[in-house]
Amino acid sequence: MKVLVVGTGYVGLTTGVALAYLGHRVVCLDVDEEKIALLNEGKAPIYEPGLPELIALAKNNIQFTTSYDSSEINTCDVIFIAVGTPSLPDGSPDLSQVKASAEAIGERLDDHFVVVVNKSTVPIGSGNWVGTLLREAYRLRKGTKPIGNYAVASNPEFLRQGSAIFDTLYPERIVIGAEDTRAIDVLTNLYRPLLNQDFSSPAFLPRPEELSAVPIVTCDLASAELIKYAANAFLSIKISFANEMARLTSKVGADIVDVMQGIGLDSRIGPRFLQAGIGWGGSCFGKDTAALVSTSKEYGITMPIVQAARDVNYHQRLWVVDTLLRELKILKGRTIALLGFAFKPNTDDLRDAPSLDIARQLLQKGARVAATDPVALGNARRFYSELGVAYFDEPMDALQDADAVVLVTEWPEYRKLDWAGVKSVLANPLIVDGRNFLDHDELTRLGYRYIGVGR
Ligand code: UDX
Repeated sequence: MKVLVVGTGYVGLTTGVALAYLGHRVVCLDVDEEKIALLNEGKAPIYEPGLPELIALAKNNIQFTTSYDSSEINTCDVIFIAVGTPSLPDGSPDLSQVKASAEAIGERLDDHFVVVVNKSTVPIGSGNWVGTLLREAYRLRKGTKPIGNYAVASNPEFLRQGSAIFDTLYPERIVIGAEDTRAIDVLTNLYRPLLNQDFSSPAFLPRPEELSAVPIVTCDLASAELIKYAANAFLSIKISFANEMARLTSKVGADIVDVMQGIGLDSRIGPRFLQAGIGWGGSCFGKDTAALVSTSKEYGITMPIVQAARDVNYHQRLWVVDTLLRELKILKGRTIALLGFAFKPNTDDLRDAPSLDIARQLLQKGARVAATDPVALGNARRFYSELGVAYFDEPMDALQDADAVVLVTEWPEYRKLDWAGVKSVLANPLIVDGRNFLDHDELTRLGYRYIGVGR
């Protein structure tokens, strides 16, 4: 099939490249000229493991452009809108990029049937809204209403950054919502190789042995839109539940890791997303839970469980600062080293990263903050140079003379640091392990004061 993907962020680019790998002819469009220039050189503008390899494998089926006119909208079978929907200050998503792309597409529609798919996480009802934008843009350009030449679908994305290629090629489900059954048929055909899992896997990312087919959920537009929000809210609630329990375990002398293992083995609960720590960050959980709360208000209802998950989450970031205050008494003039800056390992993304809030609060209290990260420092220097954090490429440079070390992101290399050597460069051997990730026994043996979350 011929596919246009508008937006080359984590979701759009991964989707476009994966579809090209599966044999579709794909054009990826972005208004950001710098990104498209990089992609045209065969380089990925974001850090995502496996993405450069998949771009190389798919290169004969994929083109990159900044121009709607050269993307031949009127010959496409499917157009994905996968642009950014960042949060506005009131928690509702900024839909200006969705609007601009829907209008640009609508102006260029002709009698050829095309399915326009909302892949961005958009508020409930956006499928209808995009339909209206397409119709209006078409009418303004052509002077007549379009007659049945397009259908709108919602096809939410569940990929995790850091394992985006794996999640796209081997998804746990595909959700398609549409009022027009033609849209469901076209998208089912588009995804056939994924549904049947009969494509040949890239050598660097073999298919999991147990995976033979992927379930599909077809439903109406609003249900598909809500599935995305409900999934992210539920995962956020699981994490915040673990963090809430961690507050109690540390008081009563229990260990949150054992408690969560003990409940996670119950298959009704499941072991994943129960890791206590400094809470979630990233582009989705914070934004989507805020959007759910804000949507519920529009309908005159409240979502106290989702709101509580948010409150617990943002409180976890304060826990780090409170712990440092308790241990060091005075933060003014102290050096705090942050190991990791990205919101989670295997990504360079800093959106809603706990590191940013933690650094801001420490700086406000007069501390000096030194941070390191294997891949996120490029973004840190680009977007957060004004923050006042000193960024170091080498962990040892960040750790020099530190009064405390905070493990912010569980990058595997931090577990393997020469912790005996680290101790010799620190001013004070205090570790606050924000992810319960480091070897507690070994560090204690080496003479560190180790503080984990809820242990
Ligand atoms: C998430 C969803 O998992 C994905 O399905 C959706 O499409 C986008 O949002 P992502 O933001 O990439 O993906 O990261 P994820 O792996 O879900 O982690 C989110 C945050 O939760 C990270 O900050 C992570 O550190 C934190 N987390 C995760 C915990 O604190 N504890 C856990 O047990 C799991």
